[in-house]
Amino acid sequence: MNIRLARVDDLPGMQACNLQNLPENYTMKYYLYHILTWPQLSYVAEDENGRIVGYILAKMEEDLAEGEEPHGHVTSISVLRSYRRLGLAKRLMVQSQEAMATVFKASYVSLHVRKSNRAALSLYRDTLGFTVKDIEKKYYADGEDAYAMRLSLKELA
Ligand code: ACO
Repeated sequence: MNIRLARVDDLPGMQACNLQNLPENYTMKYYLYHILTWPQLSYVAEDENGRIVGYILAKMEEDLAEGEEPHGHVTSISVLRSYRRLGLAKRLMVQSQEAMATVFKASYVSLHVRKSNRAALSLYRDTLGFTVKDIEKKYYADGEDAYAMRLSLKELA
């Protein structure tokens, strides 16, 4: 499986993967905004035929409060069911985190995850070392709470 930077022509494949995997979906305009604004931060995993089997859609946080350090944010990540537990999500996360730190001097990366999402929580907390910064009540449209998680990138800068 090949991991590479996402391009504009990958966006329909990324959107298809997102629609299969998650209830949090985005307009094509929002995908495009990520790729055009932070072309270094979003990656895809493709199979031997060039089919998109996983993606990470990531950005730099734009609305910084006064004194807040620049940081990256993972908008969405997913891997198609039959390609899971192969290390793809870990590789996608690490690639994006390295680019956040080196290209944009991000001091940390943040994300939201459903409290019930055991697979993603295990990836973030146990494999990558994220910690829970906050619980955002009823963050999701169906009323579920989110963990707001963070990982320092200072050692990558
Ligand atoms: N159960 C327990 N731990 C898991 C699981 C699972 N089902 N899946 C991954 N992990 C943990 C394990 O520690 C694993 O290491 P190991 O396989 O050596 O034990 C580690 O994460 C790395 O796993 P990967 O193989 O890199 O993860 P994968 O490529 O399977 O993708 C993902 C994980 C993205 C969570 C996948 O299950 C998925 O697409 N789920 C549906 C979409 C989703 O929930 N996305 C995240 C939403 S939050 C957000 O987008 C910011």
